[in-house]
Amino acid sequence: MSVLIVYGTKTGTSEKCAKYIADRLDEPVTLVNARDGIKIELSPYNTVIIGGSVRMGHITAAVSKFIEEEESTLLTKRIALFMCCGFSDKENVDLQMEINFTPALKKHAVAYKCFGGELHTDGSNKFDKFIAKMAFRADGDLDLTPEINYKAIDELIEAVKASKLAAAK
Ligand SMILES: Cc1cc2nc3c(=O)[nH]c(=O)nc-3n(C[C@H](O)[C@H](O)[C@H](O)COP(=O)(O)O)c2cc1C
Repeated sequence: MSVLIVYGTKTGTSEKCAKYIADRLDEPVTLVNARDGIKIELSPYNTVIIGGSVRMGHITAAVSKFIEEEESTLLTKRIALFMCCGFSDKENVDLQMEINFTPALKKHAVAYKCFGGELHTDGSNKFDKFIAKMAFRADGDLDLTPEINYKAIDELIEAVKASKLAAAK
């Protein structure tokens, strides 16, 4: 049984995080971009890692659709959850976790983490550029540009590995 990572990304950061996890799990990992819209078959996997980026408080729509449709199956598997987000203070992380993942999923997950984020607005539309400028002062004096928190990603990876080891005993 191998691992499935389902992620949603708009400018590549969540995909980068998903690949970072895949490279460190010491077992076969299938990566699926939920925005590709293909039907995801869960039966071959006993571990499913799900995550994506948050915009205006909400995780990538294709990821929340996947969670909504598959929640009962996901609750029978080992799962871990992640969000890429610009606001990584505890209050905002807790709120965005509450908005995007149900209490049952969080309780069942071996880990749920905020991985921080990055701002890439080069190819973005005017609205996204405006929000980035307002929220993160992306082109202002005060640099609030977010960064990826690799420590949080490593903690999620360790939690998945520890859960597998415990199950094998
Ligand atoms: C238009 C826009 C809206 C955003 N809204 C939020 C938000 O509501 N909360 C948050 O924590 N981060 C927010 N962010 C930051 C993104 O979550 C961050 O840039 C993330 O790394 C993007 O990941 P992706 O490349 O996988 O899409 C926003 C960024 C943009 C450009």
